[in-house]
Amino acid sequence: MTQILDIVLFIASLLLIIGLRKLSHPKTARNGNLIAAFSLALGVVVAIFYPVETQNNNYLYIVIGISIGAIIGIISANKVAMTKMPEMVSLLNGFGGLSAALVSLVWIVNNQFIGETGQIFIVLLNLFLGFVAFLGSLIAYGKLSGKLQDKHLKIPFSTVVNILVLITAIVAIVYFSYNGMLTTTQLYVFIGVSLLYGLTLVAPIGGADMPVVISLLNSLTGITAAISGVMTDNKLMLLGGVLVGSSGIILTLLMCKAMNRPLLSVIFGSFSSNKSSETSIDGNAKQINPSDLAIQLAYSNRVCIIPGYGMAVAQAQKIIKEVETVLESKDVEFKYAIHPVAGRMPGHMNVLLAEADISYDKLLDLEEANSYLETTDVAIVVGANDVVNPSALEDPSSKIYGMPILDLSKTKNVVVLKRSMNPGYAGIQNPLFFKDNTKMLFGDAKKTLEVILRELKDL
Ligand code: TAP
Repeated sequence: MTQILDIVLFIASLLLIIGLRKLSHPKTARNGNLIAAFSLALGVVVAIFYPVETQNNNYLYIVIGISIGAIIGIISANKVAMTKMPEMVSLLNGFGGLSAALVSLVWIVNNQFIGETGQIFIVLLNLFLGFVAFLGSLIAYGKLSGKLQDKHLKIPFSTVVNILVLITAIVAIVYFSYNGMLTTTQLYVFIGVSLLYGLTLVAPIGGADMPVVISLLNSLTGITAAISGVMTDNKLMLLGGVLVGSSGIILTLLMCKAMNRPLLSVIFGSFSSNKSSETSIDGNAKQINPSDLAIQLAYSNRVCIIPGYGMAVAQAQKIIKEVETVLESKDVEFKYAIHPVAGRMPGHMNVLLAEADISYDKLLDLEEANSYLETTDVAIVVGANDVVNPSALEDPSSKIYGMPILDLSKTKNVVVLKRSMNPGYAGIQNPLFFKDNTKMLFGDAKKTLEVILRELKDL
């Protein structure tokens, strides 16, 4: 029986790798997701039937637990709007961390709080990371959904407190591992310290810095899953955890680079900007109407769309595709400039554009886009703001100074579609709106683009 289950686990592991590989391209991503989900379902079945020493035949509890989880999962996955996806990911990630922490708790109770040094070390490390990922992700969820405001989470001397809590946790892990045991009270205090670290890690982080911490928490959950895989001798869980943990770290580093933030300042919680307030911007923003823009587009050689969070809110991607089709029929070259942190989750824009059947080949990454934008006739900024804010290049006092942006300074004409002069996620003004080559077109992006499309068809 064990051998058969091991073979099934091996096959499931291969399927998981194939599934994740397919996620890297929009055309294969849907199948990849199904294959990966199937492999994990196999893993769950194997875990249920795998013979372990403390087998209590708790099948009824397992079925009840899985059923409740599945019902909640199916309902929430069907209900969640695309714009709320990052919140959902945060919640799922948090519960992943909690599950790993529970694996450690069960081990401690089953082993009556005693173990070898190495065992206790691994178990407590897993417990710590699991609870950090759990509470950290719940706070990230609260912040993303607007239920928790930064002002509710002000911790005095947060960096110092954060470092002290981390040192306490490390000392405790070493001490209990060396002793090979801990008491119930010590366990409760250790759980409290772990939760406190989750709080002090994420609470001070806000504004434009959230994506990095979410990705970091994802990788923590991956690491806990890998450790839980070692503890339960489940090779699929180990493999899945290693893949999630390592890809999470890679993504975290890439996002740090994209936002010009050192990773250490994320870990020590001194992320939210202390830089001085923004310099005020003088001047009047010029406006353009949809019919003038349509004429300008029709007579352009190169047009580039810069999508941002507002495109997701307006759900404008399908209309953009129609505009693309009409303009291409008029021999206009049409591309998309994708900033790595546009929207509210990694790959947010790519997912939405793929949903509208926009070809992946037309998507330019930051570097390609910046050279393309130098020779673009019209760049249409669709609900993007921070990712095109020139303060990142020009104003050392700005809190986004140093963050790579899509640079529109050399583009012939820039048109910004948004509803008002309100700032974006980072809460700062955008001098782009007042530049000589920029015009504003106010209104919901989808409705504005519908009018532009009608005008284009009439030309
Ligand atoms: P933002 O800077 O958030 O700006 C979005 C703009 O869209 C807003 O200024 C808003 O202006 C406009 N908008 C909203 N609804 C609209 C609608 N229906 N029609 C037209 N415009 C609409 O977006 P961005 O440029 O994509 O930058 C992303 C920001 O989020 C960055 O600061 C990034 O660091 C942060 N962030 C990113 C992630 C990831 S991983 N991508 C995760 C969390 C946070 P109006 O209100 O005036 O319309």
